[in-house]
Amino acid sequence: MHGAKPGYGARIFIKDEAANPSGSFKVRRAATSIYHAKKLGFKGVISATSGNYGAAVASQAAMAGLKCIVVQECYDSHGLGQPEIIEKARKCEALGAEVVQLSVGPELFYKFLLLLEETGYFNASLYTPFGIAGIETLGYEISTQFQERFGRDPDVVVCTNAGGGNLTGTARGLLKAKVASKIVGASVNLAGLHMASDGQFNRKSFTTGHTGFGVPFSSWPDRSDVPRSAARPLRYMDRYVTITQGSVFYMTETLASLEGLEKGPAGNTSLAAAFALAQEMSEDQMILVQETEYTGAGKHVQPQLSFARENGIRVFLGDPKDEIPGENLILPSHPSLIKASEVDLDHIRKSLIKTALGNCGTAPTEADIAFLAEETRKDEAFVRKVIVELT
Ligand SMILES: Cc1ncc(COP(=O)(O)O)c(C=O)c1O
Repeated sequence: MHGAKPGYGARIFIKDEAANPSGSFKVRRAATSIYHAKKLGFKGVISATSGNYGAAVASQAAMAGLKCIVVQECYDSHGLGQPEIIEKARKCEALGAEVVQLSVGPELFYKFLLLLEETGYFNASLYTPFGIAGIETLGYEISTQFQERFGRDPDVVVCTNAGGGNLTGTARGLLKAKVASKIVGASVNLAGLHMASDGQFNRKSFTTGHTGFGVPFSSWPDRSDVPRSAARPLRYMDRYVTITQGSVFYMTETLASLEGLEKGPAGNTSLAAAFALAQEMSEDQMILVQETEYTGAGKHVQPQLSFARENGIRVFLGDPKDEIPGENLILPSHPSLIKASEVDLDHIRKSLIKTALGNCGTAPTEADIAFLAEETRKDEAFVRKVIVELT
């Protein structure tokens, strides 16, 4: 591999999920929900999502003959939206959904709940057990395909992480297939930008797969639109890394130029991280990037970069380590500058325990401590130590 030390540079494989209905792995998630909604006799389904999942729900609802409403956060208060989000809204509409386009802010879930009540439709949330179970097929398939082709499993599986369902479902599928690959979560680094801020909404160049979702959802999965989320990424992650926006754009262009594979931003987030991780691994090892997504008008690098420039973001070639989300976007001047930054998982674990204690109100029971040990993938001694620190 280019840039790796002699003997290093693991091989990178990509599981192409872009050919699924609606163009991403998200259909695995939607298919099980919509099947269930149909079986229970619902007339329609609703989903609150900023993108690919909406299109996936729309495609499955259309195939099942159900009505579909997608509630989407599209614009800032000036009515301006990122090309990628607008692209996804169009895609949902093209697949027959009614898209309720909202501006950024707390009204998303409020409006979503009102619509659920008014219509009596099924809540095809991203976070139900049906959705996550659907993603298990992806993990299982990876194992089958690797075994067929190489007679072994990948050493590392990299999953783009936002709300955590992608990583959770894939990891569970791998575990069911008795695969012991290391699971690495990867997110685009958007540190410092607030997701619910009107002024910052359009200062980011990624709409998912970023730390703005990945960090809060890993720290507290139950912040979603169901009482208990089935996406619990901290239970499965061996490592969590971030990568810069510019590095992902660079890798997107590289994949298109070298392999002729034009893919969208989310899966390429893992690819950029995998490229960096491969340099530390020996050349006989294998890394799998477990999904790609389709690309299209608004998702391409050019409209996203033009939009960034129009919003005052400085775009230039340089060292990605100098990238400041919301201020500049640095395309690596050399591929050797693409680095993955480690997220401190213990910090996230402590944050989860802190929130759990705050919500609990009373002293945690033995059962609570056992649960938190599983939640954080640590032992009970770790949980007890954190509790002592916190109190
Ligand atoms: C193509 C693609 N990959 C990865 C992700 C991240 O998945 P999750 O939110 O389950 O972590 C998303 C979510 O929006 C996506 O659309």
